[in-house]
Amino acid sequence: MDLLKQKILNEGIVLPGNILKVDNFLNHQIDPQLMYEIGLAFADIFADMKITKILTIEASGIPPALMTGYIMKIPVVYAKKTEAANLDSDYLSAEVYSYTRKKSYIIRVSRNYLKSGDCVLLIDDFLANGQAVLGLSDLVDQAGACLAGAGIVIEKAFQQGGDRVRQRGIYVRSLARIEDMSGGTVQFCDE
Ligand code: G4P
Repeated sequence: MDLLKQKILNEGIVLPGNILKVDNFLNHQIDPQLMYEIGLAFADIFADMKITKILTIEASGIPPALMTGYIMKIPVVYAKKTEAANLDSDYLSAEVYSYTRKKSYIIRVSRNYLKSGDCVLLIDDFLANGQAVLGLSDLVDQAGACLAGAGIVIEKAFQQGGDRVRQRGIYVRSLARIEDMSGGTVQFCDE
């Protein structure tokens, strides 16, 4: 997706530890027009898959997921990362290990919002080590729902996540795949 790649090149900042700071448009301040274009791109890619639900994880997965759901006219559910008083007592849960934060956390989704008849599209902002996508796919399995695939805004293709997730048979499409940024400049994979 050229608009996204241009935005990354113009406004992304490569931080030490191979972290791409994109909080100018994705992770803190949000560019709604760009999110809309991202939603259009995912809606186009997954148009023929009879998707009934989009599943993401708070916080930064929500804007691209919401725009995709708006365009596809299907509901968006986000997995919660903290125990909340207003979460139904009957929920699905999975453990996710964050390599970035070096700790595990539990993600939760009410059973009311993920059912066996659902065909689910996962959306997330980054694919790095793949743990978030695997945790979400675990919730889909527990619900007895079907997993159509995962739409990722930025995949760090030089990390293990993409291979790990695809090896599990999950269909993954990323709008920008970064091959390398070790020199401080982002280089995209040839598509
Ligand atoms: P994984 O989800 O693919 O397993 O990767 P990892 O555990 O390494 O990522 C942990 C968090 O760091 C995730 O956000 C992920 O989106 C984010 N992240 C990973 N690499 C980068 C990067 O290069 N740049 C930025 N900006 N974020 C990165 P999170 O903890 O769920 O945060 P949030 O969604 O609440 O913002």
